[in-house]
Amino acid sequence: MRVGVLTGGGDCPGLNAVIRAIVRKGVQEYGYDFVGFRDGWRGPLEGDTVRLDIPAVRGTLPRGGTILGSSRTNPLKAENGIRRIKDNLVKLDVQALIAIGGEDTLGVAARLSDEYAVPCVGVPKTIDNDLSATDYTFGFDTAVNIATEAIDRLHTTAESHMRVLVVEVMGRHAGWIAIHSGLAGGANVILIPEQRFDVEQVCAWVTSRFRASYAPIVVVAEGAMPKDGDVVLKDGSLDSFGHVRLSGVGEWLAKEIESRTGKEARTTVLGHVQRGGTPSAFDRWLATRFGLHAIECVHDGDFGKMVALRATDIVRVPLAEATAKLKTVDPKLYQEVGVFFG
Ligand code: F6P
Repeated sequence: MRVGVLTGGGDCPGLNAVIRAIVRKGVQEYGYDFVGFRDGWRGPLEGDTVRLDIPAVRGTLPRGGTILGSSRTNPLKAENGIRRIKDNLVKLDVQALIAIGGEDTLGVAARLSDEYAVPCVGVPKTIDNDLSATDYTFGFDTAVNIATEAIDRLHTTAESHMRVLVVEVMGRHAGWIAIHSGLAGGANVILIPEQRFDVEQVCAWVTSRFRASYAPIVVVAEGAMPKDGDVVLKDGSLDSFGHVRLSGVGEWLAKEIESRTGKEARTTVLGHVQRGGTPSAFDRWLATRFGLHAIECVHDGDFGKMVALRATDIVRVPLAEATAKLKTVDPKLYQEVGVFFG
């Protein structure tokens, strides 16, 4: 059997670990052949491939990014997209496709599988950890560690200059990175997209922190919004899946805090630093297990499924179910961490 593999959406630490596990088990245990598709769905759409065998995956376990390249290409929007993908799979003699991606990449895999009989298996990746049906996605742990380390470092500058330091983290419409790194890094305010925030309340927390002779760290998720009105985003354009490019709330909030409290406030936008570099040990472990189970799914002919983590087990869930709704932060969890604000 010949199996195609692609990585779509934003890159994420652990992608190479998944690819390596798929290839190692596929070749060693099942005697499969592999084809790497370049740049997410652009690869099968244009028949753009890269060699994928055991030598190609050697040494890639600790490497960030993806050896296959990635993109946010949406083949459902391309002219004759489905037809072209199907034709290319036949031409390349690919009998199964493993798509490693987030909500968008896997959403395409679900439709190809359920509506167009393309045999797909999905592997959930995203630093945002916002895919329902899996307890964790790989990449999230690394991103949280990077953000936590940044917050730890920012504390010292905040204290030395008695400034407010606002740290803007990624996560799109989910506050997972913000709440995990904010709690781990001892932030004094954590703002998440799931709950609109009151700027006056944020300023009250900032002021109470200064009153205790400490400088506040405010962690704000890029998708967080104030109660009244919207923030001005830096870019605000849409990607090919219709998602708005976020970022800008950190700058906006620092200005508001400065003008309302009279305290100097600066912003650090962590941006793509959170997606880069070597994966954490947990992400290597999770990504590797996902890869092993994904190729097992292919071997069992169990298509239209996504591998998922439930507690410590890897299970299979329907792709359609996995991409149906976003996993966001429960208000109760947010309330729980509120004891540390101010
Ligand atoms: O989904 C991962 C993610 O890093 C989000 O947290 C962020 O909003 C988005 O991707 C940024 O995408 P891009 O790198 O394409 O601008």
